[in-house]
This record gives sequence, structure tokens and C-alpha cells, in this order.
Amino acid sequence: MKKIFLSIIFLLGLTLTAQQNQLAIPPTLTGTNINLNLQNGTYQFFPGQITQTMGANGDILGPTLILNQGDFVNFSVNNQLGEDTTIHWHGMHVSAINDGGPHTVITDGSTWTPAFTIMDKAATYWYHPHLHTHTDLHVSKGIAGLIIVKDAEEAALDLPRTYGVDDIPLVIQTKSFDNNNQIVNHANNDNVLMVNATINPYVDVPAQVVRFRILNGSSQRVFNLGLSNNENFYLITTDGGLLNAPLQTTRLQMAPGERAEILVDLNGRENQTLFLKSYASEFQNGIYGATLPGMNANMTMNGYNPNSLNGADFDILQINVTAQNANPVTSIPSTLANDTPLDESSANITRTLTFSPQNPGMNQLNGNFLINNSSFDMNVINYSIPLDNVEIWQLQNQSAIAHPFHIHDVQFYILDRNGNPPPATEQGRKDVVLVKPMETVRFIAQFSDFADDAVPYMYHCHMLTHEDGGMMGQFVVQSTNAVDENTSFDLSVYPNPATQIINIKSEKPVTKIRLTNMSGQKVFEQDFDFQNNPDIKFSKPGMYLMEIYAGSAKIVKKLVVQ
Ligand code: C2O
Ligand code: CU
Ligand code: CU
Repeated sequence: MKKIFLSIIFLLGLTLTAQQNQLAIPPTLTGTNINLNLQNGTYQFFPGQITQTMGANGDILGPTLILNQGDFVNFSVNNQLGEDTTIHWHGMHVSAINDGGPHTVITDGSTWTPAFTIMDKAATYWYHPHLHTHTDLHVSKGIAGLIIVKDAEEAALDLPRTYGVDDIPLVIQTKSFDNNNQIVNHANNDNVLMVNATINPYVDVPAQVVRFRILNGSSQRVFNLGLSNNENFYLITTDGGLLNAPLQTTRLQMAPGERAEILVDLNGRENQTLFLKSYASEFQNGIYGATLPGMNANMTMNGYNPNSLNGADFDILQINVTAQNANPVTSIPSTLANDTPLDESSANITRTLTFSPQNPGMNQLNGNFLINNSSFDMNVINYSIPLDNVEIWQLQNQSAIAHPFHIHDVQFYILDRNGNPPPATEQGRKDVVLVKPMETVRFIAQFSDFADDAVPYMYHCHMLTHEDGGMMGQFVVQSTNAVDENTSFDLSVYPNPATQIINIKSEKPVTKIRLTNMSGQKVFEQDFDFQNNPDIKFSKPGMYLMEIYAGSAKIVKKLVVQ
């Protein structure tokens, strides 16, 4: 009897060793026609009861979209979820109607067909649902995918770019599950860590320079990434583009919504194993992921503790080094891009946004958060920004928890944190910034290319519980031409479709002509003086909007170019 009892103890010991699972690599979609089907699915996360999930073109997550700068891409997003949703292209510079924010609802059973030119720099972006009050539900249940943008600048560099081999996508997420193995949204007990929806993942990579494209796709948790043994790695991109040179570091803080690409030099490391970890024990309190979620020790958050991930160092991914492959990148490039941050003196306005809790005092972490003392209202435009404006946004966190602030439409540069320059890891193009408790962060951005009086862009906290709880606002970008749309005049444009010459016959003197393509991008604008005829170059045939101004009056015509 005694002998059997001992062997049971031994077996229990064995089951404590977590089983490692091969990292799933999302499939890719590329080209100029991208079809996404949003669907319900199931996924076996744990033994026993199966988990209900949502995914794009599959049971969970979605394909990685590989898009080329300059391509005009037609998307088709079909919603078979049984409920409304939206799809937003996080980090990408697109017109407001194509942006997929909460106003652009894809009703259940319908198909949304945005189409736009890829204007972004090479980097890693992502897509996810953005239906107001439902973003966390749809993302937590599984809808999220990476977008890899390629451009000529990046293509000219000697960087690893064989997807799934030496260029590895990593969607890092924590999720909360109930006792029936079902995903719970708006929950703070997110103790299940996964990468590409794989729990306890390992990946085999060759003994050469390997690139990891990392997204923190968690609803709330911040990671403090590092390698085992505090090995060096090289940051090459921030959210929206390459740095000017690889940045050697041992830590990279990543808040929800942030992306980064890193290089790890694994030359001569065949048969070794290392780990990508989060050193969350190093977090100051007041960051979701630290020992305490609020900066004040007496502030608690419902469901936050106990959670073995909070304030602890833990493994995210086991990296097994295998033989070097036939075409290895073996060195870290010395330079990357040539990007110049916007200069502070080019800004003409500073907008101040304060973050504060709805609940006062010690209970503040359990309520909603406000921006400038108000909660999101779909019917209120918080800012009207003149097209092409360069602005400084000053974010003042007057609460006890860090908020990852995100803005649509633009990439920004962080000017300072509490008056000091940002750390080197944040000195590139960004669209999310973690604003720590009681901290003030200033960034600079230019709002170019896309004006739309009607459809707003969002800015919000990317902790999805906070976003769904109303920590969001919206802005429109307005064309600077003051126009009286009600004044009409007789005007004809012919021939239409046009091939070589466009004639405009107008009752009033024409003062300006502006052309935009159907994705809202300006292709031509000129003040008109009858002295010389403008020469308009069209990059491709198709439909354009022609705005013809006569002083303060404007007429818009659809123009087809063959
Ligand atoms: Cu990633 Cu407005 O969102
Ligand atoms: Cu976004
Ligand atoms: Cu927040």
C-alpha cells in the first residue's frame, strides 16, 4: 500500500511540467483582393469542455495580411457572427470611411467592402473589431490578425523575411476563462497566456538572425519583454515603421495594441533553447501586470488577484534553435530607415486630454475612466482638426493606473514623458503610448491626406475594458476650404468618362479644383486662374471625386477616368 501511494506522488510531480505545444503560425493572405469571413468557431484550449470562439477565416484569430505600400487593395469583410461588429485596421493611415471604427457597423449577415491605397511604411499593423461596448468581447473571443506592410525601403535591407521560418509572427494575449472553459470578457482574472492562440508554445528557429513580429493583443495586460539570461536583442520597428538603426536592448515594454519587430542573433546557437519572457516583477505598481494594479497599495481591482502572472517573471515562448538554413541573414544591419520626427516648432496647437476615474478614491480601479471628464458619446465630435494640421497632444493621467492611449489616422512621435525625452525604445513612429499613473506625455502628429466632415476617427484607451466603458473620444479632420455647400451654380464636366481632356463649363469663375480617389486620398489640387490649363496625372483609371470651387461655393462631380 505504501509503495503505491509514493508512485502517485511521483506522477503528480510529472503532471506539473507543462506540456509544450508547437506554436501555430497564422496563414497569410496577400494581393489586392482580401476576403475576410468573420465566423463563430470552437477551439480546444484545455482538456474537457471545448471553447466557443470567433475568428476570421477560421476558428480563432485571422490570417496575416501581407500588403504592399502603393497597392490599391479591395477588401471584403463578411459578417457571419450572428451579431453586429466592425473591423478596424489598427495603425494604418486610411480615410475615415475605410477606418472601420464604431460608426462603420457591419451588420450581421452583411459584407463591408472598404478599398484603399496602402500608404503606410513597412511595419506590423493589425486588425480587430471595434463595435462600441463590444470590442473586448469580439477581440477576447478571438478576432485579431496581423498586417505586414512591405515597402521598398525595407525590401532593400538584409533582414529576415521568410514568414514562419526566420520571420515569426507572435500575437501575445492573456485571456480569462470560466469554469466551463469559456472565454469571459470584461474580466480581470486573465491568467491564461497564449501566443497565436497556442498555450505553452515552443517554436523551432534556425541558428541565424531571426525576426519576431510581436503584437500585444491582450485586452488589458502590459508585458515587459526580455530574453532568458537577459540576452540582448535588437528593436527594429516601433508601431508604424522602421527605426533609423537597430536598437540593442534587453527589455521592451509592450502595452495592449502596441507592435514591435525585433531581431535575435542566434548564430552558433544550434541545439540551444532560450525563452522570450515577461519580466513583470520589474513593473512599478499601477501598471496592469504589476503586483498591484493601482499605484496606491490599498487600491484593489475586482478579480485582479490572485493571478500567477501579476508581478511575476514568466515564460511567453520557448525558442529551440535548429540548424542554420540555406539563405541565412547572419548579421544585424547597422542602419535601417531614414525617418525624421516632426519638429515641435511645426505644431500650431496643443490639445490637453486628461484621464480621470469616474469613481473617486480607493475604489477608482473598479469603475469607468473619463477623458476630459466625459464618457464616449457617438453623437459628440470632440475635436475638429484642420486638414494637414501639426498638433501636440498632451495626455495627463490623473488616475492611479496606466492607460495605453491610441489614436487613429496618424502615427505620432513622443516628445516627452513628464518633460523628459522618452526611452530609446519609444523614439520611433507610434500609435499607442502607455501613460503611467499621474504622468504627462506629449506627442506630435500631422493629420494629412484625409478630410471628412461626417465620419470621425477615434482616440481611446486600448485597455479594452476601459474603451468599452467609454474611455474614448472622436475627431473629424476638416478640409480647410470654407465652403458654402448650399450655393449651387451651373456647371458641366465633359466628356465623362474622360480619356485625355476634361472640359469644365461653368456659370461662375472656377477658383480651385481638387480631385480625390474613392479612398478619399487627394490626387490633385490646384488654384485655378484661367492662365494655364492644369495637367492632372492619374496613377490609374477609375472613379474620382472632382470638387470644383467657385469662391465659397463648391460642386462635387463623380469623374470616371478611362
Ligand atoms: Cu486598435 Cu481604435 O483600436
Ligand atoms: Cu486603431
Ligand atoms: Cu485605460
